[in-house]
Amino acid sequence: MTEVSVAKKDSAATDELVVLKSVNKHFGALHVLQDIDLTIDRGEVVVVIGPSGSGKSTLCRTINRLETIDTGTITIDGRPLPQEGRELARLRADVGMVFQSFNLFAHKTVLENVMLGQVKVRRTEKKQAEEKARALLDRVGVGTQADKYPAQLSGGQQQRVAIARALAMGPKVMLFDEPTSALDPEMINEVLEVMQQLAREGMTMIVVTHEMGFARSAANRVVFMADGRIVEQATPDQFFSNPRSDRAKDFLSKILHH
Ligand SMILES: Nc1ncnc2c1ncn2[C@@H]1O[C@H](COP(=O)(O)OP(=O)(O)O)[C@@H](O)[C@H]1O
Ligand SMILES: [Mg+2]
Repeated sequence: MTEVSVAKKDSAATDELVVLKSVNKHFGALHVLQDIDLTIDRGEVVVVIGPSGSGKSTLCRTINRLETIDTGTITIDGRPLPQEGRELARLRADVGMVFQSFNLFAHKTVLENVMLGQVKVRRTEKKQAEEKARALLDRVGVGTQADKYPAQLSGGQQQRVAIARALAMGPKVMLFDEPTSALDPEMINEVLEVMQQLAREGMTMIVVTHEMGFARSAANRVVFMADGRIVEQATPDQFFSNPRSDRAKDFLSKILHH
């Protein structure tokens, strides 16, 4: 029994999916990412937290190359990020991204939104893409909304469609950048539940969120960022009960008491 769990842990520890090494990025004079070293293993769920402006969104955006980096390397599944063209489109499909604003195509139905990338990037046949889209929409609980337009759905439903759309590409890793921040409070849980389910199914996830309940229950690791740096990393239990840095203590006292 012990042997089995040790073996499992060892293999997981060497199974690196997303690796950032010495990543630096500037916006003009602003050093927005400073010597970022971060490794995410296959199946791992990492929650990134930190004060506004600390570089969390920029970090996510560099991982699917919505932003370029100045120095350092980023690899996905052992391969450096492609620069452009079809390779880049494929990378974007491998790295599913869910934003605060849902970014669905307003003039396309929910079903079409979830089919589009499959057909265009993955070159999946229409019929097959539709079957997959319907199955995914069912899975995130909006199967009955397939023929509506995004504006006819609630925010929580639209965000679940956005998750289904990313999943339709068969991503290796899912990035979530404050996926519930724009939602009315009563809709937050329905989105977090879908994310919890994904985590349980073994999806590799990088999640920027202020939802500490989610971090506690779903994350393997919390990464705390401030001023463009990773200040500390720990398990949720360690991080929330015993933050080591003053920055983290200060941040936690603010978000946990308001
Ligand atoms: N495209 C950009 N051009 C210039 N500055 C930017 C740009 N995007 C973000 N920034 C700045 O970089 C810093 C980090 O931003 P961001 O990554 O969005 O932080 P967070 O997501 O942690 O709030 C902020 O000071 C922000 O104003
Ligand atoms: Mg942000």
